Amino acid sequence: MEKKKEEKLIAFFSRADENYFSGKMKHVKVGNTEIVVNKMKEIVDADVFKIDMKKPYSPSYLTCIEEAKNDLEKQARPELTQYLDSIDKYEVAILAYPNYWGTVPMAVATFLERYDFAKKAILPLCTNEGSGMGTSERDIQKYAPDATILTGLSIRGGEAEECGPVVKAWLSENGIDLKEKTQKAR
Ligand SMILES: Cc1cc2nc3c(=O)[nH]c(=O)nc-3n(C[C@H](O)[C@H](O)[C@H](O)COP(=O)(O)O)c2cc1C
Repeated sequence: MEKKKEEKLIAFFSRADENYFSGKMKHVKVGNTEIVVNKMKEIVDADVFKIDMKKPYSPSYLTCIEEAKNDLEKQARPELTQYLDSIDKYEVAILAYPNYWGTVPMAVATFLERYDFAKKAILPLCTNEGSGMGTSERDIQKYAPDATILTGLSIRGGEAEECGPVVKAWLSENGIDLKEKTQKAR
């Protein structure tokens, strides 16, 4: 009998504009996490959802870090521009986000608290400038208490372009079916 196809969701938060890379400020058109997600789209069959704030953080890096810190301290739940009607059909959600002050951006909390993750697995992927996953995995479990949180993957933001093989190995280790083509082409 053919195995039932597992429905997957990739949900991600990412910010373009000014960011800090190994000691230098740079303007970028596509954020690091979105670069990783674009690679992932070539590797897995999944629906993709961008966690997008109605009032985005400032394009200025220094202003953005203050805004995000303030949201974390207040435990704000920023409104999003769009929501999924339901996540019922998904068995697995790959959740990709930048490390903000040692944890997930508060918009990710908005996203997680909106849905029921019972019987669903979340695979956390965190891009960062050196702090790794921080407390993000524990915090995701708080915001989605019924989800099963699988082993996360930390990617250095400046290495997003080269992360394909690492991401592929991580997805495989977590039992995620890869697209045929990428399985053959090693
Ligand atoms: C508001 C803010 C807070 C950040 N806090 C941390 C941090 O605590 N630790 C860390 O390693 N990197 C931190 N960073 C760096 C980002 O995690 C890193 O640049 C990430 O790859 C950005 O992803 P994006 O381009 O997809 O938004 C922070 C960046 C911003 C903008």
